[in-house]
Order: sequence, then C-alpha cells, then structure tokens
Amino acid sequence: MSASTAGPNPDNQIPKAPAEVGVSGSVTDLTPYLPPVDSEYDLEMTDLKGPEEAPAPVEVIFDCSDVEVHYGEHRAIRDVSLSFGLREVTALIGPSGCGKSTFLRCLNRMNDLIPGAKVGGHVIYHGQDLYADEIDPVQVRKRIGMVFQKPNPFPKSIYDNVAFGPRVVGMEGDMDEIVERALVRGALWDEVKDRLTENAFGMSGGQQQRLCIARALATDPDVLLMDEPCSALDPISTGRIEDLMAELKERISIVIVTHNMQQAARVSDKTAFFTVEMAEDEKRRTGVVVEYDATDTIFTNPSDKRTEDYVTGKFG
Ligand SMILES: Nc1ncnc2c1ncn2[C@@H]1O[C@H](COP(=O)(O)OP(=O)(O)OP(=O)(O)O)[C@@H](O)[C@H]1O
Ligand SMILES: [Mg+2]
Repeated sequence: MSASTAGPNPDNQIPKAPAEVGVSGSVTDLTPYLPPVDSEYDLEMTDLKGPEEAPAPVEVIFDCSDVEVHYGEHRAIRDVSLSFGLREVTALIGPSGCGKSTFLRCLNRMNDLIPGAKVGGHVIYHGQDLYADEIDPVQVRKRIGMVFQKPNPFPKSIYDNVAFGPRVVGMEGDMDEIVERALVRGALWDEVKDRLTENAFGMSGGQQQRLCIARALATDPDVLLMDEPCSALDPISTGRIEDLMAELKERISIVIVTHNMQQAARVSDKTAFFTVEMAEDEKRRTGVVVEYDATDTIFTNPSDKRTEDYVTGKFG
C-alpha cells in the first residue's frame, strides 16, 4: 500500500486524544488539521456559509478508496470505496462470506494480525493514511476500538479488563477514574461497581459484552467497530447495547456489522450492502459493495435489485 499525503498533516501523526474527555467534549483533537486562528481561511469559510437552515455537513472521519484484501492468493474483497461521517452509525450488511469482517478489520489494522493477509488501497482516517509506514498500529487501535461477535473478556478481574488498554498505551491519569468512566459509558457501572475485583468470566453474556465495549471505550477511542456484537445475546441484552450505541453516537462514530436487518434499520444512519461475486479472471468469489446510502433508502427504496432481494429476505 502506498502512503497517502492526504490532509494537512505534515508529520503524518494520528491526532492525539485530549487527556480528559467529558460527556459533551470533543473526542478527537483535530487541532493539527485546523487552519491557524489568524488565517484568512476563517473569513472565507464565513462567506461561504449557506442559508441558516442548511444542514451542517457531516465531517468525514474515514475515507476508504479501492480497498482490497488478499488472504494468500484469495482476494476476499475488492474495490471497496466508502466514507464514514463523524458521529454517524454505519451498518455493514450482506450474506455470509462477503467480507464484512474483513473490511471492518481494515479500519483499525486488525488484518495485520492475520498471517498472509494483505491490504491494498487507501484507508484515510482524519486525513491520515492508516497504512503509512510511520503509523503505529497500537495507537491506531487505541483510537479505533473493536468489539467482536463473541464476548471475549480476558481471564482477569473486571477492573483489569478495563484497565488493560489504558495500561498498554500508557494512558495518563488516575486509573480508578479511567476504569469507572469506561464502565459508566459501557452502561455497566451500577451492576459491577461492588465486584470490580471479581473475575470477568463470572458475568452474564450480556454483561461480558458490555464489559468488552467498556474495555474498548477505556482508551477514549473516537470510533468503535462492532462485528455482530449482539448475535450471541438475548433480546434484552441486545436492546441495552442498542440503547448504548445511541448514547455513544453523541460522541463517537460507530461501524457495525450485523445480520439483523431490524437492528441495522434501528441503529444506523447509513448502510452499506456487500455481496460476493465472481470476477471473470478469478476462481473464487470476491466481496464487493453493491450499494451504500442512507439506511432509510437502503431499506425502503434501494437502487439495486440485489439489495432489494437481500433486505426483503429473498436472497442471502
Ligand atoms: N483469516 C482468514 N484466512 C483466510 N481466509 C479468510 C480469513 N478470514 C476470512 N477469510 C475469507 O475471506 C472471505 C470473507 O470473509 P469474512 O469473514 O470477512 O466474511 P463476512 O462477511 O464477515 O462473513 P460472516 O457474515 O459469515 O461473518 C471468505 O471467503 C473467508 O473464507
Ligand atoms: Mg463476519
């Protein structure tokens, strides 16, 4: 993958999170990307403002172009060009094997951990190529957290699970406060505040999944990637996690893979439909994006017949 020079970020650094992030605070310190205060840019921007009622443009947090992933010889996905907005929830849907998880893992360099996996194209995060040589994958995963299908707490105490990420990345501050804040944001604090030293395996499945969300939130990410986070949960736990997503969305962006069409329709602003197709020069099928649009449009008025067949349950 070639390095990109996109964005006014000459040092090629992932922007650092502010040390303290309040509930209404900005999650991402975009200071490196803003023009100097005294520049004429401010004036120009004011002049360019649209009418009062014009909706504020959504800031792009991820801009992916022509992303493809090979596992050895097999090209699992190709030509994936999607951009995600700040504080938006984006759902990735599509039949099994179409590459949803593969693409999701491109967004925080988790495919780096899979032997033989090779990522091509561009994944631009806040104007920065995530695959540029200078980028530290550990810092990437601090800013872009991930939650998996099956709750996967570590065999440690509840406290140590949440403190794990902050310790790895050397987060400054009072660890007790960091842990409490993450558990509050994970909608779990009231249930576990008196048993923080107990082993996480003693929690219910729904609690374990919220613990994993709290663990991902502990490093103050500004993106949360969720790969079928509710598929192992009962409807009540699923509802709690969907409520939690609605709260988190006030501050962070979420990209969620789900096989549950109702869930995609309930929680997401935008939806991308993936499918698998066979290219003429290939022996195995490759995942591609068929359609990406506002969730309402995908579910009520899709422009591609394949999307319609999938969301109405005729295919997949
Ligand atoms: N670690 C891996 N090594 C080799 N091939 C892989 C690996 N992970 C995924 N693949 C292949 O890549 C393709 C896409 O898989 P992926 O898991 O991304 O699909 P998915 O859309 O998430 O499917 P599901 O809905 O079943 O989770 C499949 O052909 C799969 O076999
Ligand atoms: Mg998957």
